[in-house]
Amino acid sequence: MRATLLRYDVLPFFATLCGLVAATVLIDAALHLLDAVWIGRYLGIPGTLLILGSFGYSLRKRGVIKVGNPLTLLRIHKYMAWTGSLLVLIHAGIHFNALLPWLAVAAMLVNVASGLTGEFLLDRSRRHLNVIRDQLRQQGVAEEILEERLHWDGLTLAAVRQWRRVHFPITLAFATLAIAHIVVIFLFWVWP
Ligand code: HEM
Repeated sequence: MRATLLRYDVLPFFATLCGLVAATVLIDAALHLLDAVWIGRYLGIPGTLLILGSFGYSLRKRGVIKVGNPLTLLRIHKYMAWTGSLLVLIHAGIHFNALLPWLAVAAMLVNVASGLTGEFLLDRSRRHLNVIRDQLRQQGVAEEILEERLHWDGLTLAAVRQWRRVHFPITLAFATLAIAHIVVIFLFWVWP
């Protein structure tokens, strides 16, 4: 069971986060070596567009758009959000001149981490509940007693589902900071 936890929950969680940091460092180092740091400045645009595109899943989930398989859209949401965050991180690079965009980066990272935590926690809780339910069924426990025994686990799962309530305000903070940064850039920045 411990090997399963490590393999299916802990490792993918860290691989996704560490992969993001490692890819950022490698690509940013390559841009510096190739004397092409200016490319990073423009990567903010496709990064932002990818992150915006990743919200398609949220719109589908809330019924704002009616087309698309939710599971496929969830997978696309994760790829787009990860790649968009990567581009924005490369864009942020190692320049420290302004506080606002760095707060946006911090909110973005908390957002990615909270999304992943929710995903892995929820997945693990669901699998745990299914394993216990199967075990009880195999032991011939009647459905009524089974539901009674799983009552507290069911409540715990419902509590874990509430993580979305945390994910949403963090997304809002990220969006506000990012929009403020973008507005300031387009108002004052003289593009080379
Ligand atoms: C349409 C999207 C975006 C555009 C056009 C854009 C543009 C720019 C530009 C031109 C700079 C350089 C400013 C300077 O050198 O003084 C910059 C810096 C930066 N941007 Fe963006 N950006 C975008 C999206 C984002 C997003 C979504 C984030 C964060 C989540 C972000 C975070 C940063 C950071 C951290 C810096 C470095 C600030 C510093 O020098 O201290 N950007 N951006």
